[in-house]
Amino acid sequence: MLRSFFIGLSTNKAFRAFSERSSMGRKVSRRFVAGMSVDEAIEAAAALNAEGIDVSLDSLGESVMHVSQAEESAAIYHQLLDAIEARKLRANVSLKLSQMGMDIGGAHGSSFGAGPELAERIAGEIVEHAARTGNFVRIDMEGSEYTEATLQITERLHQRFPGAVGTVLQAYLFRTEADAARLVAQGIRIRLCKGAYKEPASIAFPAKADVDANYVKIMKQLVSSPVFCGIATHDEAIVNQLREFTAQNNIDKKAFEFQMLYGIRRDLQRQLIAEGFGVRVYVPFGTEWYPYFMRRLAERPANVLFLAKNFFKS
Ligand code: FDA
Repeated sequence: MLRSFFIGLSTNKAFRAFSERSSMGRKVSRRFVAGMSVDEAIEAAAALNAEGIDVSLDSLGESVMHVSQAEESAAIYHQLLDAIEARKLRANVSLKLSQMGMDIGGAHGSSFGAGPELAERIAGEIVEHAARTGNFVRIDMEGSEYTEATLQITERLHQRFPGAVGTVLQAYLFRTEADAARLVAQGIRIRLCKGAYKEPASIAFPAKADVDANYVKIMKQLVSSPVFCGIATHDEAIVNQLREFTAQNNIDKKAFEFQMLYGIRRDLQRQLIAEGFGVRVYVPFGTEWYPYFMRRLAERPANVLFLAKNFFKS
């Protein structure tokens, strides 16, 4: 019930406007958001790199409705790629197609109108920049109305810039096992996550136990494949299963990487680095932190208590 409450709040415009403007909102969000500016995000990345942790930088922002906003979102990614190169950071970038104009003109991911074409052009320019500087762009996965279009755009960009782009698959969707095989066959890098949106039972496993089982099944297929993949979870039971699976099957610890979110299970991130695994932390930043932050509370309502305690302590 609390999950639905926070997912509902994540799309509440009035509460979002209030929270993003308030200094209290900004203060609370700092636990999961690395700051408001590119400079703050780059400093957070440098600090993580110094601890042996790789980074993926995400300029927060979701669906934009004007071409100028999509171009502004893209400009931040170009700045990030330049800063990563200049500072020689071990960092790549993660972006959302809705932030690059996918929904403009009323078009959604499923219909291939002006929005998807615009998003593909703008994302393509960022991938081209990444390819030129030896970097990589991860296209995050949004709600299921975007799934097929996101896969097709990733496939076309991978053909143009092999190895410089990958995407995300969500274990809660029934289609994901087939999608994983489809992308692996093309050598496209996948980040496997459980999925953070509200999806109907007609297309997604409603029970968490089934999502977890599907996650483990696909994770084992991915780490046994020749393609380098990201195992994105904070679920220690799953992390333990992968530790055992790699040991039993002689899978190189560097054949994949664990991925976790900024500020979540920092203890586990450091422990995995000490054991010789690769860990990449997804570092979100920017003024549009609200929907991202609410989804994190939805995943673990206990975080509300945790944040409240720390807020009043500091
Ligand atoms: P799950 O929610 O099953 O929880 C297992 C345990 O992990 C908990 O008991 C707790 O110990 C810990 N935990 C989980 N969430 C926590 C939190 N917020 N705070 C503290 N502890 C927590 N989703 C999506 O739809 N599209 C995407 O592109 C991405 N991208 C992405 C990148 C990366 C690097 C990560 C780690 C995750 C995503 N996600 C995502 C989000 C993902 O789909 C999922 O919602 C969250 O990772 C939560 O699922 P877990 O597998 O972590 O564990």
